[in-house]
Amino acid sequence: MASGDSFYVTTPIFYVNDVPHIGHAYTEVAADVLARWHRQAGDDTWLLTGTDEHGEKILRTAVANGVTPKQWADQLVESAWKPLLQTVDIANDDYIRTTDERHEKGVTAFIQQLHDDGHIYEGVYEGYYCVGCEEYKQLDDLVETEAGDYAGRKLCKIHALPVEILKEKNYFFRMSGFQQQLLDLYESRPDFVQPESVRNEIIQFVKQGLEDLSISRSSFDWGIQVPWDPSHVIYVWFDALLNYVTAVGYGDPAQRAEFLRRWPATHIVGKDIARFHAVIWPAMLMAAGLPVPKRVFGHGWLLVGGEKMSKSKLTGIAPQQITEVFGSDAFRYYFLRAISFGQDGSFSWEDLSARYQAELANGFGNLASRVVAMVTRYFTGSVPAAGEYTDAELAIQRTVATAVADADAAMERLAIHEGIAAIWTIVDELNGYLTEQEPWVLARGAADDSAAAERLGTVLYTASEGLRALAVLLSPVMPKATATLWDALGAQAGLGALTAQPIRAAGEWGQLPAGSTVTPLAGLFPRIEEPVSAVSGAA
Ligand code: ME8
Ligand code: MG
Repeated sequence: MASGDSFYVTTPIFYVNDVPHIGHAYTEVAADVLARWHRQAGDDTWLLTGTDEHGEKILRTAVANGVTPKQWADQLVESAWKPLLQTVDIANDDYIRTTDERHEKGVTAFIQQLHDDGHIYEGVYEGYYCVGCEEYKQLDDLVETEAGDYAGRKLCKIHALPVEILKEKNYFFRMSGFQQQLLDLYESRPDFVQPESVRNEIIQFVKQGLEDLSISRSSFDWGIQVPWDPSHVIYVWFDALLNYVTAVGYGDPAQRAEFLRRWPATHIVGKDIARFHAVIWPAMLMAAGLPVPKRVFGHGWLLVGGEKMSKSKLTGIAPQQITEVFGSDAFRYYFLRAISFGQDGSFSWEDLSARYQAELANGFGNLASRVVAMVTRYFTGSVPAAGEYTDAELAIQRTVATAVADADAAMERLAIHEGIAAIWTIVDELNGYLTEQEPWVLARGAADDSAAAERLGTVLYTASEGLRALAVLLSPVMPKATATLWDALGAQAGLGALTAQPIRAAGEWGQLPAGSTVTPLAGLFPRIEEPVSAVSGAA
């Protein structure tokens, strides 16, 4: 994209029935890396996250805990969901709660408009409902068990808990009327739903025929009132999806310019909720005459023992369990590098620990500390000027330029793992380069051989400048380690702040001024003292 374009990216707003696990942190980190990348590219970036606080699931949790749903939500937001953002180092621009007044106003205006325009009618809903999913279910979504506590009952496939039978007077959204428009959308914009597997599933689902959607409930009152009938509250998903527009000013005339500036968004969600985002949400927007989202990306699941990690099945691992041992940078790097974005991934402490050691501590961290140590030792801490470049240096320069272009193209496609892999070619090439050039051998001859001295300068300038590029490119993924590296390179004095370095220009060679003063670098990724077996015991 061209620098300056709007890049508005969102995470789902998470239910506050329980505390976050690493699945939620994974989505946050993915969206944050994309946002940081675009921000540093000079795009007009906005990252939104938040919490989904209405509906029966939250109400029941609050009642079971003897507090009001608002008290429950307040407590979980402050004690768990906002702290998650610190834990994994998220630089969000906004945080929306569905109990915010700005949101409730926008939702009320939206539903009233759909009502006025004839998209809503009154009917009777009769069928199944899963409170865990907060979703009306078709028979296909259910299984029956023959044994156990729930023998003979219909269970939600996702939660393995009985669904409830509802029969209520409800308001319905005429979603069925949007079937063809949705199919046309998927057809004309093949990147609207990603990845391909999710896109195919969505197209199959819509081709089978769309029913109208029940969008109100009257059996409880924890939600936003239907403006023309206060005995109903708005269905929690209809309410929640609207966060993406209410947060950027929809429904507030004073914020019209802000809304036009930001919307439409790229939605990063788990594939479990892709249908809501790729079917119901665009249909709602079409009914209101608003632009549909730019893209909906349904990423894969983190699996534990082959099953989706979940709050309701108590298989959740808390993000702090990982960050307390490995740090937030390693968390961010690991999940985005090890799992192809879009596919499921099994989490294991052994794999995390092995990659930490091989790729972060030995690969990147060791490269950085060796180069800084050699500049300190052989050039009294002042980055040398390069002499004449040979093929070996020109190859490094090409590697860096190619990595920048490839990484930017990958981030644009939301292929975050490919973006990081492209950047990592620089780490690998620089390590190979040092092994071949043996600056420690050159240093032995440098005192009485000016050719060797010049060559040593060229090699260490090349390595330092390569680290400059790595710091810039990896800053969206590992903001803390790269800030430390930036300091150690003394780059601030000549180039300014790390996060102000234009990322798409990171491949232009020769930016780090000769004469920059390095300072010794303790390991960027310290050795983990705890044996892995002790760590994994915590899970
Ligand atoms: O669905 N692996 O909220 P929620 C990867 N409030 N990601 C996971 C995961 C796993 N095992 N488990 C959860 C809701 N996630 C609604 C959303 S949006 C308008 C409303 C992540 O708390 C993933 O992003 O159940 C998934 O889509 C989301 O958490 C579901 O969070
Ligand atoms: Mg869920």
